Amino acid sequence: MKALITILAGDGIGPEVMREGVRALKRIARLSGHEFELCDGLIGGAAIDATGEAFPDDTRSLCKKSHAVLLGAVGGPKWSDPNAAVRPEQGLLDLRSALDVYANLRPVATHPALYDASPLKPEKLRDVDILVVRELTGGAYFGEKERTPDSAKDVCSYTRHEIERILRIAGQLAGKRRGKITSVDKANVMETSRLWRNIADELIPAEFPDLELEHMFIDAATMHLLSRPASFDVIVTENMFGDILTDEASMLCGSMGMLPSASLNQDRRGLYEPIHGSAPDIAGKNIANPCGMVLSIALMLRYSLGLEDEAVLLEKTVYAAVEAGHRTADVSLPGVAPISTQVMGDAIIAGLG
Ligand SMILES: NC(=O)c1ccc[n+]([C@@H]2O[C@H](COP(=O)([O-])OP(=O)(O)OC[C@H]3O[C@@H](n4cnc5c(N)ncnc54)[C@H](O)[C@@H]3O)[C@@H](O)[C@H]2O)c1
Repeated sequence: MKALITILAGDGIGPEVMREGVRALKRIARLSGHEFELCDGLIGGAAIDATGEAFPDDTRSLCKKSHAVLLGAVGGPKWSDPNAAVRPEQGLLDLRSALDVYANLRPVATHPALYDASPLKPEKLRDVDILVVRELTGGAYFGEKERTPDSAKDVCSYTRHEIERILRIAGQLAGKRRGKITSVDKANVMETSRLWRNIADELIPAEFPDLELEHMFIDAATMHLLSRPASFDVIVTENMFGDILTDEASMLCGSMGMLPSASLNQDRRGLYEPIHGSAPDIAGKNIANPCGMVLSIALMLRYSLGLEDEAVLLEKTVYAAVEAGHRTADVSLPGVAPISTQVMGDAIIAGLG
């Protein structure tokens, strides 16, 4: 197949992990005979430096005509002045909005080779296989905003349409898994959550009668995610709750650097990025874990390009490399020197053959 893929390396460790991801993607193309046209674009702080805008028009048009977009990460101290006219993170929100990628899928599956990298006991980590379905283009991140020197507001709003379409995606995915949906909200306090819960109670039994639906408050969910993570199958939730819950969930897998994400729109065109940020504390040191980026590319092969075999090959290769002891500092083994970002990339490429 032929596909046009936009590469947005971004800021901080973004370009470092993207370099290894692109090498792996090119190797997959060579092995499978697919033709991936890769075009670079600017976003975030790098785009602000070059153009004054966090999501320039050139990047927007490139992304809109691509089959998929790969993103490293955006942001960093250089652009973090709260009074700045434009911030890198706005570029990311504009990108998500431009592509209308409302469904953010974040798989969280533990792997025995990484039990030792998690702060949780191994017995808690056994059989953890969660798919978090996070609503990505609504809620407080996209609502009306206002700030004066003495007050501020971020309006959290959701429409029936926005809630229904994300619940439908969660239902479809749960039907292909173990058949359980946990809908996470704060319905004891928030009106948006009460609407969310009512719609879930209508839609899931009507459209997915075979699924088990449970509701959970976000505060309880953060606790149960640590006390009994294996009891979850699909978690569906709104934008900010999903953002926070998946950073917490990443520690089940040992490190934020291991977790990929896929953000899909109605046409299955997608944005693929690791869940981590630009990690300014380790940027430029060649020590970031590139696995989350490489695994995001596997999700792109699966969801936007329909290349399941290639996706599975990439995923198996990443975990085989980790099992063989190739570990960056964030998941390193006691007494074993960690390897660099690039050497981790080399191990994955070598595993692909
Ligand atoms: N999607 C995105 O682009 C995105 C997401 C979150 C945060 N951000 C931005 O990133 C910047 C830094 O935010 P933060 O520090 O809160 O979050 P972060 O995810 O960048 O880092 C949190 C911690 O995890 C570590 N870490 C993250 N990714 C890693 C990797 N691949 N390998 C090893 N360790 C890794 C970091 O070193 C840091 O200690 C901010 O400007 C923030 O707005 C961007």
